[in-house]
Amino acid sequence: MSPTTIRLIEPADGAALAGLLSRDRQAYARWLPERPAEFYTPDGQAAVVTSLLASHDQGLAWPGVVVSDDTVIGQVGISSILRGPFQKGFLGYWVSSLHQGRGHTSRAVGLALRIAEDELKLHRLEAHTQLENLASQAILRRHGFRSWGIAHEHFHADGAWRDEVFWERILTRPSGRRPG
Ligand SMILES: CC(C)(COP(=O)(O)OP(=O)(O)OC[C@H]1O[C@@H](n2cnc3c(N)ncnc32)[C@H](O)[C@@H]1OP(=O)(O)O)[C@@H](O)C(=O)NCCC(=O)NCCS
Repeated sequence: MSPTTIRLIEPADGAALAGLLSRDRQAYARWLPERPAEFYTPDGQAAVVTSLLASHDQGLAWPGVVVSDDTVIGQVGISSILRGPFQKGFLGYWVSSLHQGRGHTSRAVGLALRIAEDELKLHRLEAHTQLENLASQAILRRHGFRSWGIAHEHFHADGAWRDEVFWERILTRPSGRRPG
């Protein structure tokens, strides 16, 4: 089993991410947002990374990459961080189809949970999955997320509006389950 680590995204990651994203552009069209052609280029990804790091500097996000054998294989991140009475963030992730089915995303999500709790001191994480994205749902369940509803026609991908399951994980309770 190849190890999995995550770290904060860096400007130099843009080229690798452009390569992975453009390779899976068709395969992942059903699951990821529609993007302009520029998004899939090294320059486009360099601009995305700059923007993500600006969000991090403002305390609004923790944008990470998934790494295995010293190679970037995907992204995992916490965005839309809200402080005040919420103390919550939104979890997102993808791993290249070249590295699917080997537990990388599951391990990356476990590491992101630790960052959310120990470094960001969040109380709660949220995530969305399309109804048909069973692999993504399995990953969230394994890490103690509970589903709390379905949002109809919530996400536009591959030419149509898709229903999504909404998920939550309370970080201060290890299992994510309510007591009793
Ligand atoms: C979905 C995605 C993140 C999975 O990544 P991965 O690295 O292959 O995932 P892992 O190997 O860590 O875990 C996959 C889990 O799904 C399960 N799984 C896979 N296919 C499944 C299916 N058809 N039905 C049910 N469970 C399934 C696996 O058994 C595993 O669960 P387990 O660890 O409890 O056995 C990856 O395919 C991806 O990036 N897809 C495109 C983008 C995307 O969908 N992102 C998530 C948006 S919410």
